[in-house]
Amino acid sequence: MSFTIKQILTGDLPRLGQAPPLAADPYLIPVSLRVNGQEHQLRLEPRVSLLDALREFIGLTGTKKGCNQGACGACTVLVDGERVNSCLTFAVMHEGRDITTIEGLGEPEDLHPLQAAFIEHDGFQCGYCTPGQICSAVAMLREVAQGDASFVSADLTAPAVELTDVEMRERMSGNICRCGAYVGIMNAIREVYEQQLTGPRA
Ligand code: FES
Ligand code: FES
Repeated sequence: MSFTIKQILTGDLPRLGQAPPLAADPYLIPVSLRVNGQEHQLRLEPRVSLLDALREFIGLTGTKKGCNQGACGACTVLVDGERVNSCLTFAVMHEGRDITTIEGLGEPEDLHPLQAAFIEHDGFQCGYCTPGQICSAVAMLREVAQGDASFVSADLTAPAVELTDVEMRERMSGNICRCGAYVGIMNAIREVYEQQLTGPRA
């Protein structure tokens, strides 16, 4: 690396450890992502997935990469409140949307009810699939509350949906837990579902 006299005299030098500016890359495009309420200005190749943008460029590693092909649900995040497999969608498609990851749902001292219920009901073993499970469950309970039918709903025109075990299994079927913590996961989601119907337990 060499410097001009002007750089040396004005002190306009890269700081120790600071990478020199990269040559303009014609394949990078500016992307602004709002994640957990915070704006991030990035320069990405258009083919970068939302999952890789979150993990590799923003540093939010709570969202997990399992299959990277839409089969496991480990990468589930919320986009405008709806669940999305972040490995299957490009980051550049989400400018101006509200993206929520597991880090944005709650704080260690102020957990989201589903985060607390997963702990209480042992809804995980290794925990790798847990962020996706929880994000998925947050959106799934919203879908149930607004009366969205599922593949197993008997009456597609019913104004309300009851979250039976069959409904819950079907609605969470996009999230696979390899350890097999399904009983705990179901119990955790059911507790929060019932809280939403009746109010939290005293
Ligand atoms: Fe996205 Fe598996 S990592 S669905
Ligand atoms: Fe281990 Fe789900 S808790 S894969």
